[in-house]
Amino acid sequence: MSILNPDEIERATVIDATDRMVIPAFVDSHTHLVFAGTREDEFEMRLKGLSYEEIARKGGGILNSAKKLQTASEDELFESALVRLNDAVAMGTGTIEIKSGYGLNPESELKMLRAIKKLKEHSDATIMATFLGAHALPPEYKLNADKYVDKMITDVLPVIAEEGLADFVDAFCEKGYFSINQTLRLLEASEKIGLRAKVHVNQFNSLGDLPKLVSHGALSVDHLEVMSNEDFIALSGSHTIATLLPACSLFIHIPYAPARKMIDENIAIALASDFNPGSSPTANMQLVQSLACIQMKLTPAEAFNASTINAAAAMMLSHVLGSITRKKKANLLITKKIPSLGYIAYNFGHNHIENVFLGGRKQ
Ligand code: NIG
Ligand code: FE
Repeated sequence: MSILNPDEIERATVIDATDRMVIPAFVDSHTHLVFAGTREDEFEMRLKGLSYEEIARKGGGILNSAKKLQTASEDELFESALVRLNDAVAMGTGTIEIKSGYGLNPESELKMLRAIKKLKEHSDATIMATFLGAHALPPEYKLNADKYVDKMITDVLPVIAEEGLADFVDAFCEKGYFSINQTLRLLEASEKIGLRAKVHVNQFNSLGDLPKLVSHGALSVDHLEVMSNEDFIALSGSHTIATLLPACSLFIHIPYAPARKMIDENIAIALASDFNPGSSPTANMQLVQSLACIQMKLTPAEAFNASTINAAAAMMLSHVLGSITRKKKANLLITKKIPSLGYIAYNFGHNHIENVFLGGRKQ
């Protein structure tokens, strides 16, 4: 460990942390932070009784976001995402995964991934990029999902490899979206260029796909609001992390993932915001922890762990991030005056973070 000499001590900025806590910055391992346009019109439709799936079938949902994204420029995507990213950082997020998936054609998927790359270059946050190459089917491929997956494999993956545009691959493995065979095909082709899999699965249905993704060696399986016995058995003791998204459950009124039972059955869980304009328009990881406690019966310490070190593991970053340890990156938060760590989840809806340091730099 390097020790400061008297000169350096003289020049150092001293921050009074009396009655405050110094904690690792939050790690948000599942977001769709790059998007064009918001969807509060759909929010109102749902308040009047339509379900998320009904709105999607009417051409809303992901297709609605895709239409808006296709006409936005890379710079516009970058600029609007940077504002959202800075907001997330102010609430304590120091590491964040961001997906493509609203492009729905090769050119627009690449545009999203290039905007994410630019965010990496302009932010002190640690950013990981995921190629969500199978998120929804554009109308012209409605009856030909196989062809759509082929196109993503042949037209997008080589460019990702050449420009270093992604760290992970993802698919929406769900009834009405992509089958397990289509998902595995995309995963296998992506793994050849070094992308590990983080997969949306079991959001609305348990179709027997989750055990296949675990035995395939997925780094994480995300959502898991609907779980069968077989799904629990497959995940228990495995190296695949269950990434849970309680803000999505709150916002679109679907069940919460059975997190308590998962922990009790030896399943490693991470919490993430799922920040996106349709099903979870928040990047507030403090709120995510509150929801995990209130709705999923996690203790505040478990929710904190799932939002830091476990979430770092869900991105293969736990050796450098997710806790305050010698040799790890100095992504640190100083809270406001609070009586205990548990107070963050308890006093829900507030921002308890006063100072954010990423890579040792004050934000
Ligand atoms: O994780 N489930 C699929 N994808 C996103 C929602 C995307 C959207 O509605 O725009 C999710 O919830
Ligand atoms: Fe998602």
